[in-house]
Amino acid sequence: MHLQRLLALVVLLAFLGPSSALNSSLCESSCGNVTITYPFGSGKGCYYSPDFRVNCNRSLHEPTLYFGNSTIVIKNLSTSTGEMEIMGLVAHDCYDRLRNSLKNNDPYLKLITSFRISTKNRFVAIGCDTYAYIHGKMGNESERSGCISSCSRYSRITNGSCSGVGCCEIAIQEGMSSFTLSANSFNKHDNITDINPCSHAFVVNEEKFKFSSTNLLDFENVKKMPMLLDWAIGMDTCEVAKRNTSTFLCKENSECDQDYGGPGYRCRCLKGYEGNPYTNCTNIDECAHPDHGCLHHCVDIPGNYTCSCRKGYSGDGRKGGSGCTAERSLLIEIAITTSATAVLILIFVTWLYLGVKKRRLMILREKFFRQNGGTMLQQRISGNGCSHDQAKVFTAEELKRATNNYEESRIIGKGGYGTVYKGVLSDNRMVAIKKAKIADQTESQIEQFINEVVILSQINHRNVVKLIGCCLETEVPLLVYEFISNGTLSDHIHNESKSLAITWDIRLRIATETAGALSYLHSAASVPIIHRDVKPMNILLDDSYIAKVADFGASRLIPMDQLELATIVQGTIGYLDPEYMQTSQLTDKSDVYSFGVVLVELLTGKKVLSFDRPENERNLGTLFLSSLKKGRLLQVLDEQLQLNEVPNEIIQVSRLAERCLHLKGDERPTMKELALELEGILASMVQKHPWVQSTSHEEETEYLLTEPMEDYGYADNANTGSSTFDSMSNNTIELIASGR
Ligand SMILES: *[C@@H]1O[C@H](CO)[C@@H](O)[C@H](O)[C@H]1NC(C)=O
Ligand SMILES: *[C@@H]1O[C@H](CO)[C@@H](O)[C@H](O)[C@H]1NC(C)=O
Ligand SMILES: *[C@@H]1O[C@H](CO)[C@@H](O)[C@H](O)[C@H]1NC(C)=O
Ligand SMILES: *[C@@H]1O[C@H](CO)[C@@H](O)[C@H](O)[C@H]1NC(C)=O
Ligand SMILES: *[C@@H]1O[C@H](CO)[C@@H](O)[C@H](O)[C@H]1NC(C)=O
Ligand SMILES: *[C@@H]1O[C@H](CO)[C@@H](O)[C@H](O)[C@H]1NC(C)=O
Ligand SMILES: *[C@@H]1O[C@H](CO)[C@@H](O)[C@H](O)[C@H]1NC(C)=O
Ligand SMILES: *[C@@H]1O[C@H](CO)[C@@H](O)[C@H](O)[C@H]1NC(C)=O
Ligand SMILES: *[C@@H]1O[C@H](CO)[C@@H](O)[C@H](O)[C@H]1NC(C)=O
Ligand SMILES: *[C@@H]1O[C@H](CO)[C@@H](O)[C@H](O)[C@H]1NC(C)=O
Ligand SMILES: *[C@@H]1O[C@H](CO)[C@@H](O)[C@H](O)[C@H]1NC(C)=O
Repeated sequence: MHLQRLLALVVLLAFLGPSSALNSSLCESSCGNVTITYPFGSGKGCYYSPDFRVNCNRSLHEPTLYFGNSTIVIKNLSTSTGEMEIMGLVAHDCYDRLRNSLKNNDPYLKLITSFRISTKNRFVAIGCDTYAYIHGKMGNESERSGCISSCSRYSRITNGSCSGVGCCEIAIQEGMSSFTLSANSFNKHDNITDINPCSHAFVVNEEKFKFSSTNLLDFENVKKMPMLLDWAIGMDTCEVAKRNTSTFLCKENSECDQDYGGPGYRCRCLKGYEGNPYTNCTNIDECAHPDHGCLHHCVDIPGNYTCSCRKGYSGDGRKGGSGCTAERSLLIEIAITTSATAVLILIFVTWLYLGVKKRRLMILREKFFRQNGGTMLQQRISGNGCSHDQAKVFTAEELKRATNNYEESRIIGKGGYGTVYKGVLSDNRMVAIKKAKIADQTESQIEQFINEVVILSQINHRNVVKLIGCCLETEVPLLVYEFISNGTLSDHIHNESKSLAITWDIRLRIATETAGALSYLHSAASVPIIHRDVKPMNILLDDSYIAKVADFGASRLIPMDQLELATIVQGTIGYLDPEYMQTSQLTDKSDVYSFGVVLVELLTGKKVLSFDRPENERNLGTLFLSSLKKGRLLQVLDEQLQLNEVPNEIIQVSRLAERCLHLKGDERPTMKELALELEGILASMVQKHPWVQSTSHEEETEYLLTEPMEDYGYADNANTGSSTFDSMSNNTIELIASGR
């Protein structure tokens, strides 16, 4: 093993030269408490030059490190400060009561060329009849200096004070490389041997010695005191030493240090690195320190660290620095750099103008997003694990693209309260995008709106228009619905070219489907939902005339013929439950009344309010009821139905409509009863005329609410609606019809 090591060393030396000969795994790394690091070393090839050889004697009671072949004991070696602590000798001059000399020595210390006595030492003399000197050598110069210390048994001696009474001290001159110490007495301690028999002199690390009055008696047997040496490499300056790269010691991540002023050079690790600058400076992980200077996130990089701000913020992120500030969007940042390089200043200025505008828009969007309850909605959505069935929050940008910047030609509906655009999403899905005109700002209305979006997005009924999502970044919220291709039922009833196509069978099926959807909203959903604005305008038809109940009040369309008036009363005149108008008590029976009017409209094809009709017949409900009473049903039925006689089903449906239009809500059937009865009528008709296509029985109506509504605390919101017409029973939610 020994031979192997030696061989390895020889090979190493041969290949790498003296400075690289270090193989730390072969070198002693400590001796007792002293760690030995390069350039110091004990074994062959472990030290930089013979000047740095140390010798650990482990056969002693305690392992002791010696300097070279000398008897100088090393207590500490520091590569970071370039200091070395050794044990220096103490000069003594002792006498007995008879003035006989007992002990007298003049120790000296001579250092190798590039080592110096550190000025952190003091020359100290102790005694009451004492003069002592230090004879030092600084290069070619030789200086002698010293101090006198005296005292009597009556002297006031102060602990810690070396000012001439019992103790004196002087500083060490810079650049001292060797010295001789001498301690002497004037009167051989005559008459004072009992308080101080000796004079002592020594060089000591000022931090390691504090004079005490007891030292006047107890110092006789102290042989050594700790002192500091400065060391450096060689005799050359950094400039010169750097030239020979094979011997130059300061490698990666370290720098050459000449600041201490002595001969030779030292290495020190660069800022941000630690370790032994003569072998391996390693990066300091500043971030591991709990008190790193970062506000948020700390990233360690070689030799330093950087702070990063939270997403969307910029700045240096340092505690003492500029901190973190909200930054402009990445998009703008990129735009800035590309246009700045690509275009001339003029274009740049133009761009800047646009950029500012865009930025304002972004800020506006964010503001609207908050105003419109975007945060609330996001919480709602994220708070609920089931995400795929839930409302998607679209960005304003997405919807702008989908509607080709809200192109005029995309408008499929327009009214007093807003506009509906046809849009195509990026996944080629057709959607209807509703844009209201006025935004509500109050908290409760925002919350209602959010509740509604959340509820609607969870309703999955084949006869209810599906809400896909919404966008809250605009001043008014935008709602995104599935696109229903064939327009409103109203259009089909009142447009002569279309009304022929909707035969009685189809009308009955539409009524049945609508009743089914409303019945579901009223009772099957875990929280009853009252539509509050049932009318043909709000029943959409797809290509196969399947009814889809729409417009859940977040924004409302008013038909273009403007005959129906939107009032502050929630609902539309002509369809509005008279009892609700009087009492302000909203119940599910209000929807039943409105549905009755829809039935009448389906039967008669007449407009619900018409100023062309005599005054007592202006309201279609009244007209129908009186006609029914007078047995003149056939006269009011839609001519487009092309009936010569009134079929039984029409009589049955008319009776149902009559019941729906009852002034007292309690007397009206429930939506569930209506749905069942209409299904019965439809079924009997299908039996009679098997060609009539019935889709309502083909597949089971599919509906689900992904989460119980109670989870959202809707019950708490039930009575907080802002409208004066919104008081209602405890377990009824009227958020659906909170139109503006
Ligand atoms: C140091 O010595 C060990 C064991 O002899 C050897 O495995 C290693 O490669 C040497 N390291 C270098 C840097 O030469
Ligand atoms: C080493 O350190 C221990 C504890 O600090 C101390 O007790 C001991 O005297 C020291 N040994 C030497 C040789 O300095
Ligand atoms: C260690 O010290 C002892 C006692 O002073 C001495 O006999 C021995 O030679 C020393 N060993 C070395 C390797 O210096
Ligand atoms: C130190 O001692 C070693 C052997 O113990 C010897 O080879 C070397 O020459 C000595 N160095 C000096 C400077 O005397
Ligand atoms: C050695 O010196 C260094 C630097 O002055 C100091 O940090 C370290 O504590 C010292 N070690 C001992 C054992 O005194
Ligand atoms: C020291 O003496 C040597 C020759 O003895 C001389 O070359 C050198 O210049 C002197 N240095 C100083 C600083 O006087
Ligand atoms: C010491 O005491 C003796 C006798 O009292 C006296 O003669 C002598 O001068 C004293 N020495 C000093 C230095 O005071
Ligand atoms: C100095 O301190 C020592 C103990 O550290 C104490 O015994 C002595 O009395 C002190 N002397 C003075 C003059 O305070
Ligand atoms: C560098 O130092 C080595 C070892 O001391 C020596 O052999 C070599 O000649 C020096 N190279 C130069 C360019 O001074
Ligand atoms: C670390 O980086 C900061 C900023 O880049 C700089 O101000 C500082 O001086 C660097 N610190 C170090 C140790 O390089
Ligand atoms: C430098 O020191 C680090 C840690 O002390 C150690 O992991 C690494 O291997 C060393 N690199 C070299 C080249 O010695």
